[in-house]
Amino acid sequence: MLRNAIVLALTLTVATNAQQPSASRVDKLLASMTLEEKLAQLSQYVPDQPELKPLLQKGLFGSILSGADAAAKNVLQRTAMDGSRLKIPILFGHDVIHGYKTIFPIPLAIASSWDPEMAETSARIGGIEARAGGIHWTFAPMVDIARDARWGRIAEGAGEDPYLGSLMAAAYVRGFHAGGILACAKHFAAYGAAEGGRDYGSTDMSERTLREVYLPPFKAASDAGVDSFMSAFNALNGVPATGSRWLITDILRGEWKFKGFVVSDWTSVTEMIAHGYASDRRHAARLALMAGVDMDMVSNSYGELAADVASGAVPLSVVDTAVRRVLEAKVKAGVFDQPFADESRPAKVMLTPDHRAAARRVAQRSIVLLRNEGNLLPLSRKARTLAVIGKLADSSEDMLGPWAAEGEKEDTISVLAGLRAAAGADNRIVYVPDDRAAALAAARDSDVVIAVLGESRNMSGEAASRTSIELPSDQQQLLEAVVAAGKPVVLVLMSGRPLAIPWAAEHVPAIVNAWFLGTEGGHAVADILFGAVSPSGRLTVTMPRATGQVPIYHAMLRTGRPANETEKYTSKYIDTKIGPLYPFGHGLTYTTFEYSDVRVSAASMARNGSVTASATIRNSGTRAGDEVVQLYVSDPVASTVRPIRELKAFRRLSLAPGEARIVTFPIGASELQLWTPGGWVVEPGRFEVTIGPDASRGMTAAFNVVE
Ligand code: BGC
Repeated sequence: MLRNAIVLALTLTVATNAQQPSASRVDKLLASMTLEEKLAQLSQYVPDQPELKPLLQKGLFGSILSGADAAAKNVLQRTAMDGSRLKIPILFGHDVIHGYKTIFPIPLAIASSWDPEMAETSARIGGIEARAGGIHWTFAPMVDIARDARWGRIAEGAGEDPYLGSLMAAAYVRGFHAGGILACAKHFAAYGAAEGGRDYGSTDMSERTLREVYLPPFKAASDAGVDSFMSAFNALNGVPATGSRWLITDILRGEWKFKGFVVSDWTSVTEMIAHGYASDRRHAARLALMAGVDMDMVSNSYGELAADVASGAVPLSVVDTAVRRVLEAKVKAGVFDQPFADESRPAKVMLTPDHRAAARRVAQRSIVLLRNEGNLLPLSRKARTLAVIGKLADSSEDMLGPWAAEGEKEDTISVLAGLRAAAGADNRIVYVPDDRAAALAAARDSDVVIAVLGESRNMSGEAASRTSIELPSDQQQLLEAVVAAGKPVVLVLMSGRPLAIPWAAEHVPAIVNAWFLGTEGGHAVADILFGAVSPSGRLTVTMPRATGQVPIYHAMLRTGRPANETEKYTSKYIDTKIGPLYPFGHGLTYTTFEYSDVRVSAASMARNGSVTASATIRNSGTRAGDEVVQLYVSDPVASTVRPIRELKAFRRLSLAPGEARIVTFPIGASELQLWTPGGWVVEPGRFEVTIGPDASRGMTAAFNVVE
């Protein structure tokens, strides 16, 4: 696995080095291009788009968005290159979000590992396979912070937290590069904050929230050397992101010094007409290009800019700069020297045993054990009849989750298949998909019921916002029916978002959040249920008690009337309990941990100084296990209302029974600063540091920042 990556990385480096230095190569090309040829480089099409047809033979376009196989891509490449005057090769882009052929867990699940190496591994392997499939560039990672679980695309990102999201963003970029493809941070910006969780909806937020919460993962991707950004569909504070010069030119290129190229989202250029921001296609194209969007995805609008260039409304230098960025990306991806994919390669690299093993390991670490009353899990292997209930249990297709690239259900392990493979000779498995009476009968005859319930894959992802994030009603009824049998029940939840499961949280002793785990998902679930592997995932999204609590997240701003059960006029709902069902950071394992000795190294620090915070963590149970030690910072008095707490660091520990370890975290400006109209500032005053197992628990120590 590693060797494949290294060989490919070397091939790529060699390919790039063997080329002309990109500057002179690109300069020469630019100097010989007509305006039509330049604008063509700024356009991306899908293969079956009618507008592409007349352009294909002449190679008059820059990029194709395609999932087709390597051979089909080679045909397109051959046609375009043979027909084009300057022989500029096509850059092939595709959504390689959580794997290409070997599918990894959805990114929200991977984030639950709290282990950036899992993200990096999935991206590296996705990159290797995608490159073999003829892809040069992925539209990933999606680094949108999502705090509203009604939004279906919460599945594609790392969840609600900017610190964790930033670590994951950088890890994906490193992984895609190691796999040999260009990466794209999307959707810039604040797409995850669409009002009401309605996909494509508008976003209105303070600059402080934008800077502190929504932008950091993008900045982290930029710092990690991401090659491109994708402009978002949404309007942000009245300006469509695709037309926002402030976002794309002032912040991204000006402040962050991003040197790559920017692509629009799918027709987001001409959607500025529906936004009521552009009068027609040409106007939309002008707004987007002038804002800094170098490539138009699918709108086919940039060709219309020739007249604007002639009139001077669009300076030729702006076109040239955009073309230069696109050509530089092609050089960087090695497409000039290796325009054609090696058609013998897919058979060698797709779904190798190593790739599958990696997918299984990532899936194991993505699973979150939410509840385990009476230590029902892990299941004993003694003779038992297991009733497996729910149609999702047998659905390898749903296991793939949204955006599964070239992943196929035939290659994918369902929960039922995983359980069958793992069960001992003495285990009998009885499976009932969805008949309530049969499920009840099977439950009665069993020793343990495993109910696999939740969302189907098409209930999350793009254009899959939901007004209710409770269990779908047929699933809830099935669950209540089997619980009525009185046997121990394990609920395996499949979903692309945190679900509100208040009834289950009270009536079902063991709950395993399995998200959509990809190709090896069923094996990973069985590994956890039978205890071959101890669960170690933690939520990166807060789980609400009811949809009506959404948005709910650990870093909510303080209120003047904090929620209080006994006082009516406080900030809460009259029809549900205060707080989440499961907090951010929550996740159990098969042992327990004790925290003690939380302290800060000094009582005070200078504004530009640093301290360390530490705690002792002991495995107080009888099995080895992993703990994710989390550090939250609070700023009780500030010049602006602050979040109740913010995650600022974490550390994963593997501890043997009885073993204890001291964990130390450095704390400095980046953990303490806040955004003000004048920029980032560390304000003097008292800060509190809480170290604990999730956002709702822990021990606190304090220190002062002094002038
Ligand atoms: C999505 C993007 C995706 C693009 C290309 C759009 O609808 O918003 O995330 O990269 O399609 O498939």
